[in-house]
Amino acid sequence: MKKITIAIDGYSSTGKSTIAKQLANALGYVYVDTGAMYRAVTLFALRNKWVADGHFDIASVKGNLASVHLNFVPNEVDGKSDMYLNGENVERQIRTMEVSRQVSKIATIKEVREKMVALQQQMGVEKGIVMDGRDIGTVVFPDAELKIFMNASADARAHRRYKELLDRGDKVTYAEVLKNVQERDTIDSTRETSPLRKAEGAILFDNSDMGLKEQFERIHNYALRVIQKESV
Ligand code: DC
Repeated sequence: MKKITIAIDGYSSTGKSTIAKQLANALGYVYVDTGAMYRAVTLFALRNKWVADGHFDIASVKGNLASVHLNFVPNEVDGKSDMYLNGENVERQIRTMEVSRQVSKIATIKEVREKMVALQQQMGVEKGIVMDGRDIGTVVFPDAELKIFMNASADARAHRRYKELLDRGDKVTYAEVLKNVQERDTIDSTRETSPLRKAEGAILFDNSDMGLKEQFERIHNYALRVIQKESV
């Protein structure tokens, strides 16, 4: 069977990564969470105090990008990949609300995007990849054989994210999470460089009222159909 490239884009907390991971597993493909890369750059900027609420030193972020080295390293325990920033496993640190609050700002920087896109394109040269993010079908792999654009209501997304954060023991309020989801929607879809858009040819997939099993089955079927078509 021919290997294809699968691009999954969409608003934050639409469950892209859950489905993308399951899909990659089922197909024996590599999964890449591009949000983790923008989050790692954000953590780097936070630690250096270049970004905070009401403060954004874009010049320093840009000027020090060459010192940001990112890798995905397979985690033997859970079979997933962890994000490493300059040799340090930052998988947990990049999932905090503090990083979520600043990441969309970092993701507006053109030079950051160029660096991330180049890395992502390298990871996908051999195909057999499922990549999720905001600009995968539009910028990173405009020729991907299968593109999905996921959406759900802000309320459904905030509930999912809130539950996730509570489960890991974070102290957050639902209102705070909803506000973050809405703010990120606005910044992600109105930024100048590669704003979040449904790519040409992408399948619009609204999962507000859909369980994980059904989502996976539908998207898995789309993938199998495309792979079959590409392989004849
Ligand atoms: O998928 P996520 O919520 O972990 O992504 C975090 C942020 O990174 C998101 O608010 C926007 C940005 N992002 C992006 O601009 N482009 C991508 N390909 C992936 C994420």
